[in-house]
Amino acid sequence: MTSQWDALAKRFSKIKGRTILSLFEDAGRAQNFSAQTGDMLLDYSKTNLDAETLDMLGALVEAAGVAEKRAAMFSGAPINDTEGRAVLHTALRNLDGAPIDVGGRDVMPGVLATLARMRDFADKIRNSEITDVVNIGIGGSDLGPAMAVEALSPYHDGPRCHFVSNVDGAHIADTLRGLEAKSTLVIVASKTFTTIETMTNARTARAWMQDHGGDPGTQFAALSTADDLTADFGIPPAQVFGFEDWVGGRYSVWGPIGLSLMIAIGPKGFDAFLRGGQAMDRHFQAADWRDNLSVMLALVGLWHAQVCGYASRAVLPYDQRLSKLPDYLQQLEMESNGKSVQMGGEPVTVDSGPVVWGAAGTNGQHAFYQLLHQGTRVVPCEFLVAAEGHEPELAHHHKLLVANCLAQSEALMRGRSLTEARAKMQAAGFKGDALERQARHRVFAGNRPSVTLVYPRLDPFTLGQIIALYEHRVFVEGVILGINSFDQWGVELGKELATSLQPVIEGRKDTAGKDGSTAQLVDYILRHAG
Ligand code: F6P
Repeated sequence: MTSQWDALAKRFSKIKGRTILSLFEDAGRAQNFSAQTGDMLLDYSKTNLDAETLDMLGALVEAAGVAEKRAAMFSGAPINDTEGRAVLHTALRNLDGAPIDVGGRDVMPGVLATLARMRDFADKIRNSEITDVVNIGIGGSDLGPAMAVEALSPYHDGPRCHFVSNVDGAHIADTLRGLEAKSTLVIVASKTFTTIETMTNARTARAWMQDHGGDPGTQFAALSTADDLTADFGIPPAQVFGFEDWVGGRYSVWGPIGLSLMIAIGPKGFDAFLRGGQAMDRHFQAADWRDNLSVMLALVGLWHAQVCGYASRAVLPYDQRLSKLPDYLQQLEMESNGKSVQMGGEPVTVDSGPVVWGAAGTNGQHAFYQLLHQGTRVVPCEFLVAAEGHEPELAHHHKLLVANCLAQSEALMRGRSLTEARAKMQAAGFKGDALERQARHRVFAGNRPSVTLVYPRLDPFTLGQIIALYEHRVFVEGVILGINSFDQWGVELGKELATSLQPVIEGRKDTAGKDGSTAQLVDYILRHAG
């Protein structure tokens, strides 16, 4: 693929001087540089891509064998080579139960049976005295359900949901304060059931429940692949919802890890969420690459990060209830594609995934958009916005929100020239040197790329579509980069060192063998910890 990347780099050098705005001289540009599935529209026309460049990016899809690898993933082949596993989060939303064979066994009866047990359990909790649910998990066992529960708050008709992830005692202390132990359900969400943060919080929650008159025997549930460990913890099998190792942590909200969401919005709402994911799976499998939202989002991403060299990507939902989406996508993208070697162990030939970050609009406008508009670095932006909100009585708020969203992508592209800035300052009464100086501060370079995803409204089905859209985007990017998007060896070293540092911080072991900085920090903490 080196020749394709080289050709793209040359292409970028050739076209980078032209403005995105000039591309709109083609009256068909907006339509031609958009893709749609159902009611969802992805507009990538405010980028510097043109037909020729798109063809070159399309050649990457061919050369990397995206179609074959996509088929391998959906069929249950062990594409997560470094862990020897299949990658089948799509099976969790395969609601019609078409067989999927893993190692000679159809996994669908098990998936559907667990889903049926989740529905019964969720209904039981929703019809009980339980007023609050505390999900204890971290990473994929937290970010997915926490993001989705907030996103779908207009559909909540079950108990309140809370999320504890950080091992910092402040998190669980602040969450449990004010809760009634007798009417709280604690869900321990951990694929491995060994994650130190989650297990520490789970033990603290169990002690709190015992001390405050609750019954951990009936008020704890577990979501995990490790039956033996959930049993050791004392959670009865009827309250354990298992899944298999082919569900990656950051892809797990569709199954048992989504139990808190199901309890919040009910099994019907959760089904609609799964149906949205399944609809996107079908689109991803069937649509030609040019019409395929996930593939196009991936190609735009590769163009910006790997070809243009823009090192970060901002996710900007103009949807307050998607305020956790940037964090969710940060794990999805960065844990999946932040790798340095290809599948065969050889180094990657281009940079791997970009830094993904962001915040809900319009808040971000009053915080970091200054840099997006006038900083020296180009940050491609990804806007998300619904045509309508859930508060008809506040429709004027939504119109203002939408106007801001569209204004930002327009401003990023259009910018403001020195001539325009001068005219503005002249009209404000400035003259001579002052006019020139003041005008320069008001110049916007413009020509900053963005994409916008629009959808009718953020309901469970649409949220399912959005998450699956991004999952497949990450997959396509990973295939083209030649990396394994489904392992996360990069998180291991820190975990090992934390384990070795724990007795040092507890004062049971000295700092022999540690570097000077670490030893100094330990010394400081031990002296000040009281
Ligand atoms: O950070 C590493 C990681 O393994 C993530 O991939 C995962 O989502 C998270 O830890 C939590 O893991 P578990 O669900 O096993 O507690």
